[in-house]
Amino acid sequence: MDLASYIRNIPDFPRKGVQFKDITTLLKNKEAFRYAMDSLATLLEPKQADIVVGIEARGFIIGAPLAYLLGCGFVPVRKKGKLPAETVSKSYQLEYGVSVLEVHKDAIEPGQKVLIVDDLLATGGTTKAVCELVEELGGNIVGIGFVIELEFLKGREKLQPYQIYSLVKL
Ligand code: PRP
Repeated sequence: MDLASYIRNIPDFPRKGVQFKDITTLLKNKEAFRYAMDSLATLLEPKQADIVVGIEARGFIIGAPLAYLLGCGFVPVRKKGKLPAETVSKSYQLEYGVSVLEVHKDAIEPGQKVLIVDDLLATGGTTKAVCELVEELGGNIVGIGFVIELEFLKGREKLQPYQIYSLVKL
């Protein structure tokens, strides 16, 4: 299946010059969504992970069904102020300004094998912050999966030495 054909490009969103990759057109199609989830599961199943970490917000849509398919637990990494129990947090650079991501302190046990997933790899800044959070908790990152990778932004280089998997390279 040509998954790329289900991803809609929105020019100048959220601001001029940005080509926004809209996955809602993929998600609403039952064959495409299932194919995307099954394909990611097939790629990542050999990692034998314990936990799938999903990054708010679109990473939840991808991460939860993937965790279910792989028989893993699911851990949300959220934007600041959303998680109720004790957290560790990490700030990261956005194109304009800084944002903060958090995870519950007791979400991952030291030594657990962790997959990190999100819908899209752009600069890699978001995922790098999540890697630091997971490692702060003692998690062992065994792979990172995306539906879309924007290759021209070279996020993959920022995420060395982790193993990166993506379904659609744009
Ligand atoms: C998008 C996307 C990734 C991140 C990728 O999330 O879902 O999480 O940006 O960018 P990067 O590789 O340059 O860090 P966004 O911050 O728009 O949040 P959302 O999923 O809540 O819309």
